[in-house]
Amino acid sequence: MSLPPLPRGAVTDRIERRVIGADFGADGYTTRTQADELARHLHLRPGRRLLELGSGRGWPGLYLAARTGCAVVLTDLPVDGLAIANRRATREGVDARCAVVAASGQHLPFAAETFDAVGHADVLC
Ligand SMILES: C[S@@+](CC[C@H](N)C(=O)[O-])C[C@H]1O[C@@H](n2cnc3c(N)ncnc32)[C@H](O)[C@@H]1O
Repeated sequence: MSLPPLPRGAVTDRIERRVIGADFGADGYTTRTQADELARHLHLRPGRRLLELGSGRGWPGLYLAARTGCAVVLTDLPVDGLAIANRRATREGVDARCAVVAASGQHLPFAAETFDAVGHADVLC
């Protein structure tokens, strides 16, 4: 028998912060340390454009944009998660560098060489 998911709130945020070091409502196991490592590998910095596949509620793509100053396009299929990420981008003042696009990683609506880096965390397309 499986239990229903916990509704998100202060307790789940606290658990998530303790386990991965962030509170995005992540749906994977990528930790903040690993996200920081991704930023280094992808040379993320202001002026670089990151495409994040399967972004869920914005972890770690939105975090990476806030942390490094890069621009990010978050893509996923469920629009609920994208809407949550979009609201968080506005709250955190990174909305000018963040866009959300509902799209499958298998059929991306972007021209070649639109991005400097492509990332995903815990996504199997
Ligand atoms: C385990 S969740 C990880 C979400 C987020 N990266 C995180 O760490 O919280 C996997 C995500 O991949 C997305 N996904 C799976 N197949 C996809 C596809 N073909 N195109 C785009 N997104 C996909 C799912 O919708 C889901 O949001």
